[in-house]
Amino acid sequence: MGRSQSNSLRITIIGTGYVGLVTGACFAEIGHAVICVDCDAAKIDLLQKGGMPIYEPGLEELVRRNVAAGRLAFTTSTREGVEKSDVIFIAVPTPPLPDGSVDLSFMEGVAREIAGAMTSYKIVVDKSTVPVKTGEKVSETIRRYCRSKVEFDVVSNPEFLREGFAVGDFLKPDRIVVGVISQRPVAAMTELYAPLNAPVIVTDINSAELIKHASNSFLALKISYINAISVLCEASGANVQEVANGIGMDPRIGRRFLDASLGFGGSCFPKDLSAFIKIAEQLGYDFALLKEVQRVNARQMERFVKKIVNTLWVLKDKNIGVLGLAFKENTDDVRMSPAIELCQRLQQEGAVLRVHDPKAMDKAKTVLTGVTYVADMNRVAEGCDALVVATEWPQFKKLDLERVRRLLSHPILFDGRNLFDPEEMERLGFIYKSIGR
Ligand code: UDX
Repeated sequence: MGRSQSNSLRITIIGTGYVGLVTGACFAEIGHAVICVDCDAAKIDLLQKGGMPIYEPGLEELVRRNVAAGRLAFTTSTREGVEKSDVIFIAVPTPPLPDGSVDLSFMEGVAREIAGAMTSYKIVVDKSTVPVKTGEKVSETIRRYCRSKVEFDVVSNPEFLREGFAVGDFLKPDRIVVGVISQRPVAAMTELYAPLNAPVIVTDINSAELIKHASNSFLALKISYINAISVLCEASGANVQEVANGIGMDPRIGRRFLDASLGFGGSCFPKDLSAFIKIAEQLGYDFALLKEVQRVNARQMERFVKKIVNTLWVLKDKNIGVLGLAFKENTDDVRMSPAIELCQRLQQEGAVLRVHDPKAMDKAKTVLTGVTYVADMNRVAEGCDALVVATEWPQFKKLDLERVRRLLSHPILFDGRNLFDPEEMERLGFIYKSIGR
């Protein structure tokens, strides 16, 4: 794929986390020379030795191929990265502060480091999710800390990568948003993404930053909307999947992100929602609509726990099997995972848990203790009073349900992801409880 290295741009990515590593490996894949920088020496060492710090489908092969081709390298030195590249991407964490606002200290630190290392014109691109007006601040910071009068441009280029599908999302984006203060970096930014043949929207920098928060908040709103509808479905005997299909066929609405669940989680939606509410507040607007999105999401978890308690009555010393620990399918990420929260809630009620996840067990072990980790998904149910599905891994659909029913001491299955057909489950002899059906 891609073009010859002679007409490629040299790129440095500062921050080699999910976003930074995927972005770096994919830019290398489409022909650019990429340096990934991280302050974590152990992570860089691991990558240099051919290891992977995260699980993301297709990423390991991409990294291996591009390192071998000499297009992808790793270093702990920001100075080296800045000196050797034309375009510097910032992909550092922007974690939440206790009040929900965004901690921009990594961002500010990197801006100063870049300023200190610049000796020629650079394009500094922000990929991290940041509050509107951060680009302006980054620009001011670089100007302040840059000793010589080197020229530079700051660009906002938000990522829309879904974990678990990040490589595919990068290589086939719906759109590329390029927010700029001046027109000078537009040609280089367009050139960078040219091999992807995707629509590029050039906006002012504040709009680009708002697009990211507005987009994630809208998606979270869609999920809370269908989760609210699921409550009405349960109360009235309707089926939320039928309702989602019916409303989703209207192209103005669309069927995607209308799957009722025990709630959304992950490292983006909860944090971005809180941040956006805070940003709105600072701009003088009470974004009550988004506060309700959060409330619906929290209530959805409560309702699911209550459903389990209402059926099993007392959870103390009951054995419960839980399938899924990651915040969604195809990832080993357990940050803000509804599945982990559910496990902790069940533990608080005194339940004894047997848990399984196809990829996230190692990461889960650092946050979820006092449970039995089971390697075989078909054996989680062994001796349990009930089984719970908490993550929408497609392989759970292939569970040997006859065997699971025999292994359970009581054939009760709580499905927090609507993976199974209620009629089929009843036919198989399960007491089956799902969401909004
Ligand atoms: C999200 C955005 O999709 C992506 O564009 C952005 O760049 C980062 O945040 P991600 O956090 O990887 O990506 O997860 P996503 O696939 O969007 O799912 C978020 C959560 O919503 C998961 O917990 C998922 O299980 C849940 N979800 C999703 C539902 O409950 N119902 C749905 O219909 C869709």
